[in-house]
Amino acid sequence: MASASATLLKSSPIIDKSEWIKGQNLRHPSVCFVQCNPTSAAFTVRASSYADELVKTAKTVASPGRGILAMDESNATCGKRLASIGLENTEANRQAYRTLLVSAPGLGDYISGAILFEETLYQSTIDGKKMVDVLVEQKIVPGIKVDKGLVPLPGSNNESWCQGLDGLSSRTAAYYQQGARFAKWRTVVSIPNGPSALAVKEAAWGLARYAAISQDSGLVPIVEPEILLDGDHGIDRTFEVAQKVWAEVFFYLAENNVMFEGILLKPSMVTPGAECKDKATPQQVADYTLKLLHRRIPPAVPGIMFLSGGQSEVEATLNLNAMNQSPNPWHVSFSYARALQNTCLKTWGGRPENVKAAQDSLLVRAKANSLAQLGKYTGEGESEEAKKGMFVKGYVY
Ligand code: 13P
Repeated sequence: MASASATLLKSSPIIDKSEWIKGQNLRHPSVCFVQCNPTSAAFTVRASSYADELVKTAKTVASPGRGILAMDESNATCGKRLASIGLENTEANRQAYRTLLVSAPGLGDYISGAILFEETLYQSTIDGKKMVDVLVEQKIVPGIKVDKGLVPLPGSNNESWCQGLDGLSSRTAAYYQQGARFAKWRTVVSIPNGPSALAVKEAAWGLARYAAISQDSGLVPIVEPEILLDGDHGIDRTFEVAQKVWAEVFFYLAENNVMFEGILLKPSMVTPGAECKDKATPQQVADYTLKLLHRRIPPAVPGIMFLSGGQSEVEATLNLNAMNQSPNPWHVSFSYARALQNTCLKTWGGRPENVKAAQDSLLVRAKANSLAQLGKYTGEGESEEAKKGMFVKGYVY
């Protein structure tokens, strides 16, 4: 084999914030192939022209005391949320709810990024301002859900795979132009259904292809293989499966030349199955989860942004707080949907006169999780609503 002293030769001009806010500067080509051995041409190194910007974006999202507001429910899932407060699933109602979320005063003190569904990325608030512009004014980086959802995986044990790679590079390029700077792809692994080697490999490969494509378009990929809470297994079984899943994910990320400094992870916390009779304390969840992360996640990765997965709002905050009692090699934070929005949605109830109270509820949760990111959350004064579990068997996002 030819010996090649590979050097990464190309890096991008750094784009300043005002430029990325305008989102007009799609550059070509976004990828170059650099010959490392001029005599034999035996080895090439791939370098994205967005490399510096990806690192900057990932660091901004992973900034101290802040995390992600996941508000990327598909129209179908948003419909379920709205139905729970007696509202119809119309574009106007989705717009009113998302306006309430993005315009909560001071949200950017606790929230560094917001994941949007495509409709919201291109939508305006009820006052006619672009949602994306409102977020940027709040110093919140806009992100976009790019997967196309789960479908049955033939040849598996009733497991799923995640669609969305076809045409992804043109979509990610367009999302960048619209102002998105990071992306999310959620696939799932089911413990009670296996997981089969086929399902784990498919999940890991899909995430790696998506991550490479997103980086080529200037979007920081959030890598999310959700290990579902469903099942009556104990915490050791979750730990075993999580080790397997993350080993495979990083194997394929490396094989696809994904730059680890320019990604964010969105793991499930390591907990017992939702139907397990043994419950785990925040300390146990933190011990298992940090052990998993130390074994599997390189320190080059800037941020670990957990999903809430059906935990109650308070449980998700307590667990995060327990993980931040001593310094970690990565920013350990949150990217919650249900665990940030539940009380807020109920408080709103679809009534304009409740908007301020609902925004206050969102800020209470955002601040609690901000404190948990810093390891300073006490759990005092939480409402009964915030302590209610939100696990739904066979949950589809
Ligand atoms: P939850 O925090 O409700 O599990 O949402 C996870 C998610 O992937 C949303 O983007």
